[in-house]
Amino acid sequence: MADGNSSASDTLWHGRFDGGPAASLMAFTVSLPFDRRLWEVDIRGSKAHVRGLGGAGILSHDEVDTVLSALDEVASEFTAGTFEFRDGDEDIHTAVERRVTELAGDAGAKMHTARSRNDQVATDLRLWTKDAVLAVVDDLIGLQDVLVATARAHDGVYLPGYTHLQRAQPVLLAHHLLAHGWSFARDIDRLLDAHERMDVSPLGAGALAGTSLPISPSATARELGFGATFDNSLDAVSDRDFVAESLFDLAMVGIHLARIGEEWVLWSSEEFGFVRIDDAYATGSSMLPQKKNADIAELARGKSGRLIGNLTGLLTTLKGLPLAYNRDLQEDKEPLFDSVDQIRLAIAAVSGMIATATFQPEAMAQAADAEVTAATDLAEHLVRGGLPFRQAHAVVGRLVRRHLAGEGALVDLAVAEIGPECAELVRPGAGVQMRTSPGGAGPTPLPAQMAAFDERVAAARSRCAGRR
Ligand code: ARG
Repeated sequence: MADGNSSASDTLWHGRFDGGPAASLMAFTVSLPFDRRLWEVDIRGSKAHVRGLGGAGILSHDEVDTVLSALDEVASEFTAGTFEFRDGDEDIHTAVERRVTELAGDAGAKMHTARSRNDQVATDLRLWTKDAVLAVVDDLIGLQDVLVATARAHDGVYLPGYTHLQRAQPVLLAHHLLAHGWSFARDIDRLLDAHERMDVSPLGAGALAGTSLPISPSATARELGFGATFDNSLDAVSDRDFVAESLFDLAMVGIHLARIGEEWVLWSSEEFGFVRIDDAYATGSSMLPQKKNADIAELARGKSGRLIGNLTGLLTTLKGLPLAYNRDLQEDKEPLFDSVDQIRLAIAAVSGMIATATFQPEAMAQAADAEVTAATDLAEHLVRGGLPFRQAHAVVGRLVRRHLAGEGALVDLAVAEIGPECAELVRPGAGVQMRTSPGGAGPTPLPAQMAAFDERVAAARSRCAGRR
């Protein structure tokens, strides 16, 4: 099929080429449609690089000033939405350099001295990812605040805790909500750990091997606020561990949100009736007028699939790549941008859904107070009397079997066989009170957990602030 060609002088690399690139090449290889969002970090990186070239005496003070003003001008064009892309703009780096050269002439044409797009794009993406990771941490801390506030607002409310999705033992709603809070605490730690590891500047690695010009990679690293500078130029331009690691951390957040999502689909169903989702956070049916659907919860569950896909896609791209830069690496951006965007939308929606929901304490208590959920407490009562637990388990198991066979209420059978004190153990609301051990689900250990959680959130907040 015939291909239109653009003009040879449109590209950064036209000198070596006879004629312009084929339209199909451009269509297939351009990254501008997705990497244009790097404009801000690209300009930040270029400013540091140009100052570095000035410091090394490669550009004169005047040239540095001219290029820096041109970069500022380009930044205001982006902010104002007036920046005009051209057909030959392969990516955001090309577009910015092209425009700087239009504005600054020969000084602009010196901007890319001692730099390759390979170290440039790695620098840009690290800067972008550092910001994105901290933004996600902020979002997660906001979600933790919602979980804690909801927990505090429902003092004493309890529901069945489940194993195998069968009612097991009653737990405080606060304890259940905090269980999710702790998983987000680990996500936050992971993201901040990743943030520390990605805080290394690749700028100055050049295309792959450094340069003959007297640049100072550590000076530009400092200028850009990086905590460290690369030690090996080949590694600097090839390393996308930080993207893979971020994608894993975001997928893990997605998996945690998916677990909340699944629970809320169940809890908000008529069958459970544990929670009513606010109208603003639910959707209707186009055909069934009575429907109110928990779409946020379902998408919180469903989006985890693509977050995992973004991670496995990138790992597959990275596998087997020879050193150093290969164009395959351009495939790092879309999954990263998508995972960051999706997780931030999901955290906001789930936070709103939880913050505005109305819990149904009676329905929860009724389900939690089913007599059989007291079975373990009856067995532990026998243990306190000296019976080995395995025998106590068998005694109560037989009572449950007789109860299920229709011989009578469990409480009556227990009172008859064990003693009158059993009535108190099976009384509605008694079970959750008996979850007394440290870290357990009852009101006795809850304050210590709340305090530990508050401390953990405060520590995350200050660690996050320290990374800024
Ligand atoms: N858009 C490219 C990327 O995202 C920039 C680097 C291109 N480098 C090259 N040698 N072709 O990776």
